[in-house]
Amino acid sequence: MKEITQYNEKYRPQFHFTPDENWLNDPNGLVYYKGEYHLFYQYNPFDKVWGPMHWGHAVSNDLVHWQQLPIALEPDEELGMIFSGSAVVDKNDSTGFFNGGSGLVAVYTSHLDTDNGPIEQQSIAYSRDRGRTWVKYKDNPVIKNYGVKDFRDPKVFWHQQTKKWIMIIACDDRVRFYNSKNLKKWEYLSEFGSEIGVHGGVWECPDLIKLEVETEHLNSKSQTEKKWILAVGDSHGRKTGVLTQYFLGEFDGERFSSDYKRSFVIDHGPDIYALQSWSNLPENRKIWIGWMNNIAYMNKIPTDPWRGMMSLPRELALKKDNGKIKLIQKPIRELINLRENIYHDNDLRVSEEMNIYIEEESYEINTVIEFEKVDEFSFFLLQNNNQQTKITYNVRDSKIIVDRSSSGNTDFSENFIDCQEIEWFVKNKRLEVDIFVDKSSLEIFIDGGELTISNLVFPQKKSEKISLKTKGGSIKVKSFELYKMNSIWG
Ligand code: FRU
Repeated sequence: MKEITQYNEKYRPQFHFTPDENWLNDPNGLVYYKGEYHLFYQYNPFDKVWGPMHWGHAVSNDLVHWQQLPIALEPDEELGMIFSGSAVVDKNDSTGFFNGGSGLVAVYTSHLDTDNGPIEQQSIAYSRDRGRTWVKYKDNPVIKNYGVKDFRDPKVFWHQQTKKWIMIIACDDRVRFYNSKNLKKWEYLSEFGSEIGVHGGVWECPDLIKLEVETEHLNSKSQTEKKWILAVGDSHGRKTGVLTQYFLGEFDGERFSSDYKRSFVIDHGPDIYALQSWSNLPENRKIWIGWMNNIAYMNKIPTDPWRGMMSLPRELALKKDNGKIKLIQKPIRELINLRENIYHDNDLRVSEEMNIYIEEESYEINTVIEFEKVDEFSFFLLQNNNQQTKITYNVRDSKIIVDRSSSGNTDFSENFIDCQEIEWFVKNKRLEVDIFVDKSSLEIFIDGGELTISNLVFPQKKSEKISLKTKGGSIKVKSFELYKMNSIWG
């Protein structure tokens, strides 16, 4: 890797993955193989704006510390750019690429710009050396375009019951399913989604994940219930840009059916998209990561010499609560290793305000707040005089409000200032808040990961303090933990 950065520039995240330089978007090809977690990503090695798409590459032993490796896949003249896709371990050499052994297969979209518009088709490539070098399959594409402009982002997994590979792929306003014995010849199965869920732009970057349902009073003899979530992004699902949503239901190896006539929001912040889960994880863990940016202003965010970052990896679970099943996203447990205790206290009564004077800009606040009579309480983060990013719980309206209007540099796009108001009903007058601040990002996990909110922010002045303020009453801070998060670029 070129020594071009010490990873200490203004806005450089310290415990999130960013490329050393230039443009990054979606995570791609997430796979665990022979002790390494792979993270490929949409990458333009020539510029800090979206452009000719390659697959960049990084590896990790713990999903936290990343080492950037040389580019994995480059565009070619015949089929075009390398758009998003996934990777799998071909354990039993179903492809015949690995002389009876195992290896990695990447499944991606080839995007070719022609005078008559773009052509998107699905291709594969394989690696016999743990992802270090890749060979594109000679008979690409393995799925030809069938006459639709947007046909991309294949996510592939092994389906044990039918003993086939399954591909889910976004096509305009829906997803399609295909299956295959060998990752080379694919058969169309079914489609889902044109008449359900959010449809603001086109659908992109789907994923299909089977999860166990955790029940609060699980009788040890009872069978664990399993459900599938179908996650998909909508490029313009919000007034101000991207939206990620999931459907909850069943997948029988051929078709997906949704239990509800609607989708649910994955993350209520504006700055997360293209979430993808890792394939082949130990302990059958289900973990995904997303691209933190928004199509509405993606080419303008004021970072340099890179543009685009990944979210924290999030562990997924389903929880049954009052008969309703919800998706839970928690920051992975490995992040605890980065914590360095700064401040810790219990049972504090806060009326008006509590201030902690620290200049740290990469930290975690993990707190439980209880309240009786109070109108609202707010966290003021990345503060300096009138600069602040404010997270409020409005008790009267049962709303979480994230206000980044005074967060620093906001004028690079008029779409950037949107005050997010999210309805949230607390249980037992108690709110659990776990906030990760990392220079130019803010990921908020509420009530054990039942709600998440991801935001970018670009403070102009150095942070001087963290405050917790109340209006119209007081709160009891049951526990307050503040950790500095150590840099992964060490
Ligand atoms: C989503 C997306 C994908 C596409 C890729 C191109 O951000 O538009 O649908 O494959 O980016 O970079």
